Amino acid sequence: GGVDALTRAESLIALTPDYPEPGVLFRDVSPLLADGPALRAVIEELIRPFEGTYDIVAGIEARGFLLAGYAAALGGVGMLQIRKAGKLPRPAAAVSYELEYGTATIEAPGVLREGERVLLLDDVLATGGTLAAAQSLVTELGAVVAGSAVVLELTDLGGRAVVGDVHTVFTA
Ligand code: PRP
Repeated sequence: GGVDALTRAESLIALTPDYPEPGVLFRDVSPLLADGPALRAVIEELIRPFEGTYDIVAGIEARGFLLAGYAAALGGVGMLQIRKAGKLPRPAAAVSYELEYGTATIEAPGVLREGERVLLLDDVLATGGTLAAAQSLVTELGAVVAGSAVVLELTDLGGRAVVGDVHTVFTA
């Protein structure tokens, strides 16, 4: 059933010590994405609280795209790409945010209707910088954030305080 599949899904998040730098325990959802029943259970739980509250799902590059594609197909809605800067021919909005060293920028195409309700999806919430920027991007496009959901929240990094309300399937 769903709970068993979710428990198994959590065990499919791979741990890699000292990546990308010494002292960091990297959590990789690749094995979870590769497992059909686990992936299905995770996507269903990811979007469960938001049923009927959104018109489109947004995926944050890159692993968020995979989640958004599945969720869009399940819900019969479309997808918005939230991309790293420089990938889109004609971005309609851009938001820059702070990284540990330097800044990053995300962009989106001009495909949303005024007031369209957007459900934001990503794999991991760490510092929250990326998801907070994505929330700002949706607002800048004249749309509305219906909700934000991630597969895995790294609670020690305090991202929840940065992004406000976020639904998480797993925490670590
Ligand atoms: C990871 C993850 C989130 C972001 C979370 O993406 O997929 O998008 O970092 O970090 P934050 O909460 O500190 O902003 P990454 O930058 O590795 O990009 P990728 O998915 O393209 O590999």
